[in-house]
Amino acid sequence: MTGTIDIAIDKTTKSRVKEQDVNNVPFGKVFSDHMFVVEYADGKWQKGSISPYRDIPMSLALSALHYGQAIFEGMKAYKNEKGEIALFRPLDNFKRLNISAVRMAMPEIPEELFMGGLLELIKLDKEWIPNSESGSLYIRPFMIATDEAIGVKASDTYKFVIITCPAGKYYSEPIKVMVETNYFRAVEGGVGFTKCAGNYGRSLFPTKLAQQKGYQQVIWTDAKTHSFFEESGTMNLMFVVDNILITPATSDTILAGVTRDSVLRLARDWGMLVEERKVSIKEIFDAHKNGKLQEAFGVGTAATIAQIVTIGYEGKDYELPPVEQRKFSPKIDQALRDIRKCRTEDKFRWTMKVV
Ligand code: COI
Repeated sequence: MTGTIDIAIDKTTKSRVKEQDVNNVPFGKVFSDHMFVVEYADGKWQKGSISPYRDIPMSLALSALHYGQAIFEGMKAYKNEKGEIALFRPLDNFKRLNISAVRMAMPEIPEELFMGGLLELIKLDKEWIPNSESGSLYIRPFMIATDEAIGVKASDTYKFVIITCPAGKYYSEPIKVMVETNYFRAVEGGVGFTKCAGNYGRSLFPTKLAQQKGYQQVIWTDAKTHSFFEESGTMNLMFVVDNILITPATSDTILAGVTRDSVLRLARDWGMLVEERKVSIKEIFDAHKNGKLQEAFGVGTAATIAQIVTIGYEGKDYELPPVEQRKFSPKIDQALRDIRKCRTEDKFRWTMKVV
């Protein structure tokens, strides 16, 4: 029994953790010992189970594969020098998963099921959590439609799964990004605000083209005019212009990032001026020309704070001030790490200790 929910637990008899240096693994390729799985059938969520991480058999007619009813979340657990473990804002990810579920005509998952499975899983696999400064356990909750049916309709059955993997930095170096003005990621009335699999699938071709030109990521612009910044491939986008923190406001085309919100709240708490609004490409390059663009960076769970050093736009590269000269983003990066690793006061009650 876990809290208020009953989970069947089948613990591995052969942990793989000793075969890994959890502080030094590539992102998203090595998976921890266990997974949490719960099925939705007959109009309700069934009993969840934790079992050794393994492949699952599936029908080739699985509805998620054909019509993309698939959503996910990204969150992290941290371990500090004393061995204390904490999750960072898990309830925000839980809520966002259900926002995605509603938009994708999928069933919402109850909080006690999500949190009960998650906490039990993290406790079981706590040896997998890196304790290096930039290390964490990346947690991937996801839900897929599991009807075996080729007709286009919302599935009647689903699988909700949580898998985890030790992770270091997503981007090991500051990055070069390219402003994308041919393709778009999201339109008003679409699914841009969700974490549905299709949002990522559709981004891969433009990203590949940008990578062939030497950039790591694209920056998406609005679908109608391509003159306003939206977000980057794996993260939300922020600028510091003349000591003001500026970021595109969330909308139905922009993901409401948990890291984004944390950065904005900390910045406001520190007394910094913050603007959440439409951010035009023109104003940012004008600021660059006038020497007022001090910082550009991406923010996300996987990416954490990713420094942007070059922005490519219409065939021209704009070089930004060196990372060593930046004041705000390195400070917020450190402050967030200290909160996540429970080394400092958690004024906003963002961490949830796992004992
Ligand atoms: C995350 O930051 O957790 C994401 O989901 C972005 C990416 C790895 C898909």
